[in-house]
Amino acid sequence: MFPVPFTHTSPSISRATLTQVIRRDSFLRFTLSPSGFSSFQPGQFVRLQGWEGEEPTYVGDLPKPGQTLPLSDPFLQSPYPLLGRSFSISLARLDETGTALLGFDLIVRVVGVATQHMEQYQEGREILIIGPLGKTGFTWNGNSEAILAGGGAGIAPLLPLAQALRRMDIPTQAFLGSRTEGEFPPSSRENLEKIGVELHLTTEDGSTGSKGLITDILEAPLGTPKDYEVYGCGPEGMLRSLCSLCDKHRKPLQVSLESMTACGIGACLGCAVLPKSDTQNHPLKVCIDGPVFQGSHLQWP
Ligand SMILES: Cc1cc2nc3c(=O)[nH]c(=O)nc-3n(C[C@H](O)[C@H](O)[C@H](O)COP(=O)(O)OP(=O)(O)OC[C@H]3O[C@@H](n4cnc5c(N)ncnc54)[C@H](O)[C@@H]3O)c2cc1C
Ligand code: FES
Repeated sequence: MFPVPFTHTSPSISRATLTQVIRRDSFLRFTLSPSGFSSFQPGQFVRLQGWEGEEPTYVGDLPKPGQTLPLSDPFLQSPYPLLGRSFSISLARLDETGTALLGFDLIVRVVGVATQHMEQYQEGREILIIGPLGKTGFTWNGNSEAILAGGGAGIAPLLPLAQALRRMDIPTQAFLGSRTEGEFPPSSRENLEKIGVELHLTTEDGSTGSKGLITDILEAPLGTPKDYEVYGCGPEGMLRSLCSLCDKHRKPLQVSLESMTACGIGACLGCAVLPKSDTQNHPLKVCIDGPVFQGSHLQWP
């Protein structure tokens, strides 16, 4: 188990204040001071409902009780999403003793309607958050060293994991990859170095670090007999390759999945992933069964 405040907590609904907003390239980095929880397990996430107060506009006649409306009905028009969006809890902001949680960061990659809306957020804004969510976060299983493998926005949950591991004096290396230099989330590399993690970078275009894919630079360390626990988060293709590499070298792998979620409460199957048939015979839901799974328990498409 990780030390306090990196311990699993059940969710609550609370208001958080944005104390810092950093915009860089396609990323936002928000620092929030939450009032609703004082600990979380690395890998747990929050749902943001930051667009509250911007309810959909009703046009035309209001529907009558019992009337059925097609989902595409223009009667309900809103430039804002109706559903919340999920984001991993990133760097923990701690007091000087390193044991009390003062706040945390979110790293947001701007991809669509909600995240574009979030680009307008300014410091001081209050937002509604539900969390910490997730049945499973990352765990420590007693291995002597840790390897973190993060691609793009997938670096987010690896930051508090690194904080927890280093608090336990576990030697930790991070292998970070992106298409190009500008696609590393703001301050993520600097923060990992401050935490005491040894960094290895790779970019597909060679603009920083070595040129190629993250799995190219992981082949050598994973091929050694060292007792590594591997943790991954990033695009599906990267996680699939990471999983086969860890299988090949018989290293345990935990992955945090950042699939698209809709309801966020286990009702819609929008986030379903398939387990290997020998472990379970029904789909797993990232939002309530995850988001962290053993890499070897999943079927990779
Ligand atoms: C547990 C969990 C943790 C997450 N943590 C983070 C995080 O720390 N930082 C972060 O930036 N994102 C994270 N995500 C993904 C994030 O929830 C989505 O990117 C977000 O919902 C996009 O909302 P949107 O309205 O801007 O995009 P939408 O308008 O809903 O989608 C825009 C486009 O992006 C694609 N898209 C949307 N979400 C995803 C996705 N998850 N994977 C692949 N394609 C997608 C859609 O197909 C569409 O083409 C996480 C998801 C989960 C489930
Ligand atoms: S998002 Fe609906 S079941 Fe997971």
